[in-house]
Amino acid sequence: MAGSPKIWLITGSSTGFGRSLTEAVLKHGDTVIATARKPEQLEELIQHYPDTIKTVRLDVTQIQEVHDAVNAAIAAFGRIDVLVNNAGYGLIGALEEVSDEQIQRNFDTNLFGAIHMMRAVLPVMRQQGSGHIVNMSAIAGFSNELGFSIYGGAKFALEGVSEAVHGEAAPFGIKVTIVEPGPFRTDFIGRSLVQAEHQMEEYQPTVGKFLHFLSTIEGKQPGDPVKAANTIIQVVESENPPLRLVLGKYAYHKFREKIESLTQELDAWETLAANTDFEDA
Ligand SMILES: NC(=O)c1ccc[n+]([C@@H]2O[C@H](COP(=O)([O-])OP(=O)(O)OC[C@H]3O[C@@H](n4cnc5c(N)ncnc54)[C@H](OP(=O)(O)O)[C@@H]3O)[C@@H](O)[C@H]2O)c1
Repeated sequence: MAGSPKIWLITGSSTGFGRSLTEAVLKHGDTVIATARKPEQLEELIQHYPDTIKTVRLDVTQIQEVHDAVNAAIAAFGRIDVLVNNAGYGLIGALEEVSDEQIQRNFDTNLFGAIHMMRAVLPVMRQQGSGHIVNMSAIAGFSNELGFSIYGGAKFALEGVSEAVHGEAAPFGIKVTIVEPGPFRTDFIGRSLVQAEHQMEEYQPTVGKFLHFLSTIEGKQPGDPVKAANTIIQVVESENPPLRLVLGKYAYHKFREKIESLTQELDAWETLAANTDFEDA
């Protein structure tokens, strides 16, 4: 399928990565089912690309809307080649600072939203015998930050699910890519980063420090979402796409640091840990 026009379904197309990717895919000559909680935000794109965009209302936490969006895509274009689970937002706070409701809502969006989308689209791709699922994680979904226990935890879980689906879906010609961006210049820090309900003085030196760091880079994040969008298109067009696509120098550095610390820890404790096997094993 590499090279021929594709049908994409993208969640969270209103701003940031989702918006940049929607625009880049349209420029590339492919077709998009661009979904958003407020699809009227995509009006301007319909004027420019009347034949290759269909906008659909979709809040990924609403399972009926998930199925309606997939059905609308099939009714309009007959197939889905690429699913991009991009919709998501941050929650910053120590584990005891965030409320139960904040935890639930963050997992419902960042993890269960993507799971419901995959479960709705996998049967379509399996019947086609082809497809590509792109799940927007974060570098915090591999190497977490203080204050991101829930946000990073949801992304870690999404990566775990994605790793297994990658293997399960491969025999049907379906590919899976996890995208792990570092800080990119989107609305993420500005309006998509919810703060903990019960902030505590005790967490100022740790979580407070990270929040301060984020506020200092707001608007100056090194990552360019347009370049990220074009890179994702190149990856989808490639013969052997990676399971993990780490985006930006910051994320690459954090990823390597984590691998090194994992290796060091594994080596340091290997002798003791290996002794837990039965003698006859
Ligand atoms: N920017 C970064 O530095 C960065 C780094 C790592 C990972 N990410 C990930 O990248 C993805 C996109 O974020 P962004 O950086 O592009 O930020 P953004 O510009 O704020 O975009 C977030 C998008 O998610 C949508 N969204 C949130 N909750 C939703 C829901 N329940 N249903 C449907 N859509 C929903 C938003 O829609 P509304 O307009 O309706 O709110 C918006 O379109 C997220 O998954 C985020 O975790 C971002």
